[in-house]
Amino acid sequence: MSHFCRELSLLLLLLAHAQADNCLTAIVGETVQIPCSLNTEESLKTEDISVEWKTSEDLIVHSFVKGQDYWTNQAPQFKGRTQLFSSELSRGNLSLRLSSVSLTDDGGYTCNYHRSGEPTSRQLSQMCLQIAGRYSLPVVQGPASPVFKDHEVNFTCKSTGGFPEPKVQWSVNKELLQNSRRVNTILNRDSRGLYSVTSVLTVNVTGDVSVTCTVENDRLREKMTSAEIHYLIKAEKESNGVSGGTKVVVVLVAVLVVLVGLLIVVIMVLKRRKRKHQRPRTPVPSKDEESEAERL
Ligand SMILES: *[C@@H]1O[C@H](CO)[C@@H](O)[C@H](O)[C@H]1NC(C)=O
Ligand SMILES: *[C@@H]1O[C@H](CO)[C@@H](O)[C@H](O)[C@H]1NC(C)=O
Ligand SMILES: *[C@@H]1O[C@H](CO)[C@@H](O)[C@H](O)[C@H]1NC(C)=O
Repeated sequence: MSHFCRELSLLLLLLAHAQADNCLTAIVGETVQIPCSLNTEESLKTEDISVEWKTSEDLIVHSFVKGQDYWTNQAPQFKGRTQLFSSELSRGNLSLRLSSVSLTDDGGYTCNYHRSGEPTSRQLSQMCLQIAGRYSLPVVQGPASPVFKDHEVNFTCKSTGGFPEPKVQWSVNKELLQNSRRVNTILNRDSRGLYSVTSVLTVNVTGDVSVTCTVENDRLREKMTSAEIHYLIKAEKESNGVSGGTKVVVVLVAVLVVLVGLLIVVIMVLKRRKRKHQRPRTPVPSKDEESEAERL
């Protein structure tokens, strides 16, 4: 029983996958052609052909009745955007051209054909349309002022007009940044429902740094990478460049110089005193000294 369930779910999974693969991807603002064709060798008379393109919600996308476009029952959101290929109709090619695609066009589409004289109409194709938006080339901006070593710096990456949500990745010095907690990515939606993305990367710069940002659209299998920006790192300014360690060394050297100086002075004083003590022991006093002694 559980085996059967597993097989069934596998089958359902495969079906779901096939369904997704059967989807056409259309790009916002562009034109898409939704295929529908009648397997026929004979050439048809267009006045015998009636075609009705509908959404899965039963809105009329395009009506063509007995050789003529019929606009009256067309859903307003498709006004002026649909067209059949008139020269292809006689060959059984009933494909629909839909222009100025928007996000709301996402969904299922059916192509129903009726030939004059036949009792019923036939559904010839069922397609699903998924919509994507192309992200603009991302642009990275770094700080405007000079960057000093061991400082925190923000880089900002911007890209607009995409759908669905993007994957944003940063590379620092050509290495892909993995799961960084120092990236802050914000999405906004515009009036058309498209995303604009702003991602801020914070780095502690320890040397010259180069940065790129990549915005990926899975649905379009498209990766857009910004130009690489380079920052040359300046050493700290001289005024605050003397670190604590250097200060200690300078003070120590000064203290040492003073101590050595004191020592020299002390030694000289001691030597002089020693000489004075030795004087009385000089063996022969000079005559001058004798006479002086007499005078006293
Ligand atoms: C139907 O016509 C369109 C427009 O000329 C063409 O691009 C498409 O390939 C045709 N489809 C078939 C099945 O011939
Ligand atoms: C960098 O950006 C964060 C927000 O992501 C902000 O909090 C911080 O102040 C910024 N730092 C600098 C140096 O601009
Ligand atoms: C970056 O530098 C700041 C301040 O020097 C420090 O608090 C922070 O932990 C550093 N972050 C990293 C990721 O090195």
